[in-house]
Amino acid sequence: MASETNGQNATQAAGISTDIITLTRFLTEEQSKVKEATGDFTLLCHALQFSFKAISYYIRRATLVNLTGLAGQSNATGDDVKKLDVIGNDLFIAAMKSSGKCALLVSEEEEEIIYFKTEDGSARYAVACDPIDGSSNLDAGVSVGTIFGIHRLADGSTGSKEDILKPGTELVAAGFTMYGASAQLVLTMKGGGVNGFTLDNSFGEFILTHPDMRIPKSRAIYSVNEGNSLYWEEHTKEYFNSLKFPQDGSGKPYSARYIGSMVADAYRTLLYGGIFAYPADKKSPKGKLRILYECAPMAMVFENAGGQAVDSTMARMLEVVPEHIHDRAGIFLGSYDEVEKVKSFYK
Ligand code: AHG
Ligand code: MN
Ligand code: MN
Repeated sequence: MASETNGQNATQAAGISTDIITLTRFLTEEQSKVKEATGDFTLLCHALQFSFKAISYYIRRATLVNLTGLAGQSNATGDDVKKLDVIGNDLFIAAMKSSGKCALLVSEEEEEIIYFKTEDGSARYAVACDPIDGSSNLDAGVSVGTIFGIHRLADGSTGSKEDILKPGTELVAAGFTMYGASAQLVLTMKGGGVNGFTLDNSFGEFILTHPDMRIPKSRAIYSVNEGNSLYWEEHTKEYFNSLKFPQDGSGKPYSARYIGSMVADAYRTLLYGGIFAYPADKKSPKGKLRILYECAPMAMVFENAGGQAVDSTMARMLEVVPEHIHDRAGIFLGSYDEVEKVKSFYK
């Protein structure tokens, strides 16, 4: 007893936490709360977290091992593909395949759905991913990320297009990892809160550092590619002008922050509050960001953190149903009150 107390004193004095919640522990504890859980979802998440660690590793080594620059091709949605886009995609596919729990995968970098057939039919999940979001920023060392959304297959299905062409309201889990000064994983599950984990490179583990994340209700920060304003609809222009030239007597204009990686802009917005937008405009009438692996997973994170997300028609983003796997939407997401303000300008 005495030595236990001495030990506790020693760890306290050194400021060392010995009760660390790793992602592995978190997932096991979450699983034990669900009586009928089979452990399949937990196994899928273990495969996911491995892909994040591997992608993070290669991003950090990119400049040293000649992984910067273009791969010399363009992807399903016409973007130039970077070498790291290819590596991120291959790592993600390998992780999903080897998990044995993923029946099908939609990736930004793959034109068609990838189906993984398992002998025993135990793969019950459909996953959508943007393996590297913000890849135009890669060679400048600016934060990029991986976005993912997870659906469960319909009863009796062995995996089909219908299992992924679903509204975000049916996602069982979603989130993203941002590869910044450290790798930050943000995860949310259906009906649950939002939890943030930081990759500790020495442990090789994601550690719960941001439990139960809540987005501030309002904040005077906006994040949008203002270079597109020539193409914006009138109400979009009026809304952003109202932030820059406030008429309500408050006097103080909003601050602008735009990184150009959705993951990084969204992560900051989640922590500090404000609004992130990529509106549909006259040049891109359907918007730029993709519903399945950019808009819907982010919308789920923001709603579960107390914020909101809508498309360019002010429809709830989570209720938008894509017709095709790479369909796009305009998006406004952020603090609850900031999204209310966006809606008030829509005619
Ligand atoms: P990706 O790198 O996966 O193609 O996504 C890029 C996206 C998103 O990360 C970001 O918000 C947006 O494109 C930036 O677009 P602009 O360069 O048009 O501002
Ligand atoms: Mn992207
Ligand atoms: Mn991408």
